[in-house]
Amino acid sequence: MPLFVNAGSGQRTEWLTLRGFAPSLNRMHSEITALGGKDLGGQDTNVSFYQIAGGKSMKLNTILVALFLVSTVLISNASEKLPGPSHGISYPSGWQDWASISVSHRTDNNTLRMILGNAIAVKAARSGQTNPWPDGAILGKVVWKEKQLENWKAAISPEQLVHVEFMFKDSEKYTSTYGWGWARWVGDKQEPFNNGPEVCTACHTPVKDRDWVFTDPAPFPAID
Ligand code: HEC
Repeated sequence: MPLFVNAGSGQRTEWLTLRGFAPSLNRMHSEITALGGKDLGGQDTNVSFYQIAGGKSMKLNTILVALFLVSTVLISNASEKLPGPSHGISYPSGWQDWASISVSHRTDNNTLRMILGNAIAVKAARSGQTNPWPDGAILGKVVWKEKQLENWKAAISPEQLVHVEFMFKDSEKYTSTYGWGWARWVGDKQEPFNNGPEVCTACHTPVKDRDWVFTDPAPFPAID
């Protein structure tokens, strides 16, 4: 449902009604209240009413311009096409901004790997809560072909992307795959891998007593 905005002004006050999906409305809410709108509540989760005191149409106009900008961003984000699911798991959009947990270098197939985590996983990694990892943790691994740095031959750095893969910890949802959801997207086009999570778990079996995880989090200094 797109966002519908209805606005008007009376003698003393101006008002605004927003109708749309709850997540968009929540985003708008902070914008409107920051600009001085008073939330009068909504009939349901898809409608919100605001009162803008003072009847100064300048203010209402400012809010409408801000809303227009925010909704344009929301709409363009929504229309961005994500890759299809892998093993029934949706693409974890935004993973490129996650923090790092470790790196590794596979000398047998000349690839570099970065191990990342969502906020829950990174917190667990930094505080040693890794056996078991907490529910909600997502571990990611990004794999690149390696290359020699042109200006320093002894330095190895990433070249083309091979795949990204993720382990989603949910001890209730994923009981049949040892408490983790396993997913992979291949190459630049991020084609979903759907050959079955057994491919993943078979190879991770040597670390079943470490909650199925190979990586030892790299030491990071505990300084804020
Ligand atoms: C050929 C064996 C093999 C297969 C198959 C495999 N993995 Fe792994 N995986 C590893 C190893 C070894 C590591 C340790 C880090 C590295 O690769 O350098 C790892 C690490 C990971 C990590 C980082 C956390 C950890 O355990 O260290 C994730 C996430 C991951 N794998 C997901 C998957 C998923 C999802 C699949 C299936 C689509 C999969 N793996 C299949 C061997 C494998």
